[in-house]
Amino acid sequence: MSTTTQTEPVVVVPTSRNKNKRRSKRSSVQGPSLAEQADRHDLYQNAVQCVESEIDFIDETYAKLRGRKASILREDFCGTANTSCEWVRRRKTNTAIGVDLDDEVLGWGREHNLPTLEDDGVSRIELLCEDVLTVKTDKVDCLLAMNFSYWLFEQRSQLLEYFKRCLATLKDDGIFFLDAYGGYDAPREIEEERECNGFTYIWDQASYNPVNSHMECKIHFVMPDGSRIDNAFSYHWRLWTLPEIREVLGEAGFAKTTVYFEGIDEETEEGDGNFEAVEVADADAGWIAYIVAEKA
Ligand SMILES: C[S@@+](CC[C@H](N)C(=O)[O-])C[C@H]1O[C@@H](n2cnc3c(N)ncnc32)[C@H](O)[C@@H]1O
Repeated sequence: MSTTTQTEPVVVVPTSRNKNKRRSKRSSVQGPSLAEQADRHDLYQNAVQCVESEIDFIDETYAKLRGRKASILREDFCGTANTSCEWVRRRKTNTAIGVDLDDEVLGWGREHNLPTLEDDGVSRIELLCEDVLTVKTDKVDCLLAMNFSYWLFEQRSQLLEYFKRCLATLKDDGIFFLDAYGGYDAPREIEEERECNGFTYIWDQASYNPVNSHMECKIHFVMPDGSRIDNAFSYHWRLWTLPEIREVLGEAGFAKTTVYFEGIDEETEEGDGNFEAVEVADADAGWIAYIVAEKA
């Protein structure tokens, strides 16, 4: 699963049939393999993220709903802070706060993403190595919980506590942006393969328990020489549904929630990167949506 607008076809393979499918083509090749030379964060950013279109959506939706441009953004579960960097890049008046409790991934972002900012960009971004359930920051216009990261809160009470904290962090006219995915493939134990620029990305829905909706997902990368980075990233999540998420947002005190679905490109039959507010959507195999939760 990825939030990138995909142009390459996705191949879905039942997990059990796909195991060990790709054997390494390398036999007695000298020197480090391509997998050994690769950087998992770099591959992740290339395969999974499209921060430009994500920030387009956030910036445009905020302006449309509030009649002004947002300037302060907080990115929860920010990882390498790629999205925060894109926000800061957009306007000289923009500032960002990234929150993640993993110092290693924040360090990678500081080393690789922050230096790409021009002028005073670095001074307009703050990265906090903290837990989103306890962090205290200035109030913000936009709060982001993307890449389905908030699904790590598997109990309704935890999710409610997190959403209440999000509400308290927003300015009076602030907006909380989340993403979600679903469709009839979402609870299946399958792998999706997608060709990226110079490597294959594999999204592995390794297990799903229908009793509590707990799922384990993994990301693997396969390089052109057949070498692999297995379990580059792994996630333990609850597969939440849109109505459940909206109900908890409402219970937390959000005044209004709207679901935006991605349109489908008729030629490629893949997402076209355009998200529209919907009340009814097709029961597709896989979909990605944004939830826009308004404080007032
Ligand atoms: C799915 S990754 C998403 C990373 C980022 N959005 C990206 O695309 O690069 C989830 C991130 O959430 C972080 N995380 C997990 N639990 C957290 C918590 N309670 N508070 C803050 N960050 C957390 C992890 O360290 C990880 O970097």
